Amino acid sequence: MENKIVAKESATLTFQNKQIELPVYGGSVGPDVIDIRKLYAQTGAFTYDPGFTSTASCESHLTYIDGDEGVLLYRGYPIDQLAEQSSFIEVCHLLLYGELPNQAQLTKFTRDITYHTMLHAQFDRFFEGFRRDAHPMAVMTGAVGALSAFYHDSLNIDDPRQREISSHRLVAKMPTIAARAFKYTLGQPFVTPRNELDYPSNFLRMCFAVPAEDYVVNPVMAKAMDVFMILHADHEQNASTSTVRLAGSSGANPFACIASGIACLWGPSHGGANEAALAMLREIGSVDNIPDFVRRVKDPNSDVRLMGFGHRVYKNYDPRAKVMQKLCHAVLQEVGHTDDPMLKVAMELEKIALNDDYFVQRKLYPNIDFYSGITLSAMGFPTSMFTVLFALARTVGWIAQWSEMIADPSQKIGRPRQVYTGPTQRNYVPLSARG
Ligand code: ACO
Repeated sequence: MENKIVAKESATLTFQNKQIELPVYGGSVGPDVIDIRKLYAQTGAFTYDPGFTSTASCESHLTYIDGDEGVLLYRGYPIDQLAEQSSFIEVCHLLLYGELPNQAQLTKFTRDITYHTMLHAQFDRFFEGFRRDAHPMAVMTGAVGALSAFYHDSLNIDDPRQREISSHRLVAKMPTIAARAFKYTLGQPFVTPRNELDYPSNFLRMCFAVPAEDYVVNPVMAKAMDVFMILHADHEQNASTSTVRLAGSSGANPFACIASGIACLWGPSHGGANEAALAMLREIGSVDNIPDFVRRVKDPNSDVRLMGFGHRVYKNYDPRAKVMQKLCHAVLQEVGHTDDPMLKVAMELEKIALNDDYFVQRKLYPNIDFYSGITLSAMGFPTSMFTVLFALARTVGWIAQWSEMIADPSQKIGRPRQVYTGPTQRNYVPLSARG
């Protein structure tokens, strides 16, 4: 990766009567960064930033977010244009290789992915080891980590071609693993991938086909799946992506790194919020109950939150939420749920919140999760699968970020510092002398 940060000026820090100059760099767009790499050597002090709210951990060419303006770009392309005009497979090419593919590149890339969708026959035995009631994310974490035990020929991270093959394998095999995790909890037989189907259709078929009858892919659902995956494909240095990068910074193999990303995504503050938003809409139940619910949200003595609203970075409408809202309408229309009570509650709640001072002042807008739960549920997925679908879509972002990091000449093992507040040195006390 060619570094593109530009030295602009310097910032002066006065610390313990000493002044030091810190270089300031600019990216192509977005806030400048102050380079503190020599801070410890020059001052003996660390910076303190739990949650990394002011810390850029890397240089990246992939994804840009402007949270105040509600902008999300993949390699410069706005998310709404990609969702409307592109396909997930094109977006995978864009994220992995930096450019949208031409026709020949698309044909080749589609083939590369399609012909890696099968799993090693012995891999299926892995699933049998899990309890039937295992959460599909537990199965995903274990199964994806296990890929490194099956594909030894693409584990050398210093070989660009092996890195590329691992990327293809991960993007290709993730739908097969996710569908198996789903089928396993249902107690239904696994469905083998079909090479004549496109990426989203193949995944839906592996999830919903049964041997007792033919399965015909509904094009509206395939399109919805495709757009859902585009919207979730990458999101800059979020918790799971940073986890993948940190795991990879030690030289760990890509399958193990993606498994660590899946583990991080599983948490309710990250990938689990769409489930919480759907549960909230179900709890509210009807439009009549909205005023009481909003009153509880605004009550300073209650900890009730409007799930699917607010975002650490977006202080404006999440650009993905707009697309997801449209998708939700299309899916509900297709399944004949235009009168869906949850959709009515969601739309009324959104209208009220967007005009209420409490939410306006705090810049709380719908995020992608506000409508995604209703959409996925109408597509036939149980809530336990929501985070799995997120992981499936995010895999390309994780592996693109990992590849970018490995190719970056300034890459080092990630090793944060700390401010220690525990006991200072003391002598061991024998058990007999302890009170
Ligand atoms: N409902 C009601 N009030 C809220 C909400 C909400 N959803 N979100 C924030 N607030 C209020 C807070 O109470 C606080 O008010 P105060 O200043 O009076 O104390 C203020 O807005 C700022 O909130 P913070 O929690 O400090 O904001 P932060 O940026 O840390 O939180 C977060 C972002 C965690 C997403 C938060 O908005 C939230 O909990 N939302 C609901 C959960 C959710 O939808 N998460 C999905 C995020 S998107 C994703 O992960 C794909």
